Amino acid sequence: MAVSGGLLCGAAVVTLLCLLNGAEAGDPVQWGYDKGDGPSAWPDLYKRWCSGRKQSPIKLTTAQSVYDPSLDTYTISEPAYAGKQYKILNDGHKVLVDFQNMRVNLSLNRHERECFRPHHVHWHWGDKNSIGSEHWLEGKQYPLEGHIVMWDCRFWDSFAEAAHGIDGLAVLGVFYEIDNSVQLSPDRGIGEIISFFDRPQVSSCDQCVNKDYNNPGVNLPAFSIKELLPKDMSSYFVYYGSLTTPDCRENVMWTVFREPIKIPQSAMDKFRNLSMPQNSTTGLRRPMVNNFRGPMPLNPADPIGARRQLSRSFGSDVGAAMAVCAPDKRLLVLAASLLAVAGLAACRG
Ligand SMILES: *[C@@H]1O[C@H](CO)[C@@H](O)[C@H](O)[C@H]1NC(C)=O
Ligand SMILES: *[C@@H]1O[C@H](CO)[C@@H](O)[C@H](O)[C@H]1NC(C)=O
Ligand SMILES: *[C@@H]1O[C@H](CO)[C@@H](O)[C@H](O)[C@H]1NC(C)=O
Ligand SMILES: [Zn+2]
Repeated sequence: MAVSGGLLCGAAVVTLLCLLNGAEAGDPVQWGYDKGDGPSAWPDLYKRWCSGRKQSPIKLTTAQSVYDPSLDTYTISEPAYAGKQYKILNDGHKVLVDFQNMRVNLSLNRHERECFRPHHVHWHWGDKNSIGSEHWLEGKQYPLEGHIVMWDCRFWDSFAEAAHGIDGLAVLGVFYEIDNSVQLSPDRGIGEIISFFDRPQVSSCDQCVNKDYNNPGVNLPAFSIKELLPKDMSSYFVYYGSLTTPDCRENVMWTVFREPIKIPQSAMDKFRNLSMPQNSTTGLRRPMVNNFRGPMPLNPADPIGARRQLSRSFGSDVGAAMAVCAPDKRLLVLAASLLAVAGLAACRG
């Protein structure tokens, strides 16, 4: 009895594990950014997460965020990357640079003793400069947004594990804006990355329509992750959300920087010259553009369930003034009260 009960229980656990596993591995549906397979269809195609309550991207505004003084500038400890290689490739949806398990550690804001390891960086962009970024900043959409995807190396042993784990990922979001006075160096950061866009493994990936196909990519010399971050790393927003592509898993701590990186129009045009996989019927390759998801609500309209908070690391002008004023005001009130008491005492006397 006990034995058969145990077996039954074991079988139930195995079945449950298999079901969970099937659901997780399940990425059977082709998705994209068009009418039938784009962001508005994702909640139907990927029911588990894409219609969830903690989705990304969102609109970032100083007004709707809460200043959190514990959000500090974070540190990056990098090994010597000279002689190491990253990999760059087109995955049929976007272009990405894989950091090839470089053992870079980042300590993020208040997570001082925590360990995050960058896995790859990819971008989202539009076909014109007024659209393209996924997050919006103070009501504005930027033409390009970079996502440095990191995994929590304190609780997980690999990106693959962390990507399926609770709170396993952290993504750094960086806006780009056009400034034609900027000259990019072809052997540093984004300039170096763009210099690889003409390579066949980067300009398009026809085989990527096949789910099992992984583009092997091309090597490019490793560089500092700092090259992909803005100069001002002290001003940013933080919130808990999701991946912005299916399966939209809600296990991402987002940090989005306020200061955009500047690139010339010619660099932006190189992104728009990348291609979607070849259409097997027409033989045509469309430009790879508008591969972004629109903003999701910070909190759903219904009042049930947990509410998300958008935090910011910087005080707004109003907030900063209030913070400075507050103690003075209290002192003023105290002084006024004392005077009043003294005055009363004096009157009585
Ligand atoms: C990163 O963290 C690991 C584990 O704490 C440590 O062994 C390694 O030396 C660190 N690497 C760098 C470059 O700081
Ligand atoms: C656009 O991409 C093609 C390869 O797909 C390349 O031959 C061409 O030089 C690129 N044009 C520009 C302006 O970068
Ligand atoms: C290929 O092109 C045809 C004709 O324009 C279109 O109907 C079809 O949806 C395209 N296929 C894909 C996968 O985009
Ligand atoms: Zn992304």
